[in-house]
Amino acid sequence: MKFFIDTANLDQIREAHDLGVLDGVTTNPTLMSKEGIKGQDKIVAHYKAICELVKGGDISAEVVSTDFKGIIEEGKKLAAIHPQIIVKVPMIKDGVKAMKWFTDNGIKTNCTLVFSAGQAILAAKAGAKYVSPFIGRIDDSCWDGIQLIEQIAQIYSIHGYSTQILAASIRSALHIVKCAEAGADVVTAPLESILGLLKHPLTDLGLAKFLEDAKKL
Ligand code: E4P
Repeated sequence: MKFFIDTANLDQIREAHDLGVLDGVTTNPTLMSKEGIKGQDKIVAHYKAICELVKGGDISAEVVSTDFKGIIEEGKKLAAIHPQIIVKVPMIKDGVKAMKWFTDNGIKTNCTLVFSAGQAILAAKAGAKYVSPFIGRIDDSCWDGIQLIEQIAQIYSIHGYSTQILAASIRSALHIVKCAEAGADVVTAPLESILGLLKHPLTDLGLAKFLEDAKKL
């Protein structure tokens, strides 16, 4: 399973990258706005900086247009920023149409705001490289996000779809483990959840004892 970090914060991206386990980055307009990035030039420079940090990784950049023509124009500009850019397109009617156009024209896409297996089938049919089911937001509304990952994984496997399941809206380290079990190809998580995978009290206790005993050697 590939690890993406779900942030536009350069320090956090650097920290995850330094750990040696980072395969890519996902951003969205909310995450970009949190970094205080304003204006087209600054947005482009920020995406370039992320691509430079995570060399070779897939970096999702989201369109904000909602009509076919607008999505195509915006997506072409985003894709032209850097070869690592994946155009993130919302799961709406014009979004599906646009993803098919991008697929036919060699531009890779990540279908975002996916909350059902039916939407995931449409994303695969449109040729999206990634489909992003929002696990945390599903759990927040008292449905089972992990069950959706299992369902999509089963459908994609039966029908041989090549779209990769990118589990998004991750809220915890446990979510990451559950997504791995459920068959996600990629998980995109905040730094805190990635670092949460490190934690176990027995590791801390065991290390303290080893270090103590090492003094006797
Ligand atoms: C990533 O692709 C999504 O935009 C992101 O994971 C959404 O996460 P949130 O539900 O925490 O906003």
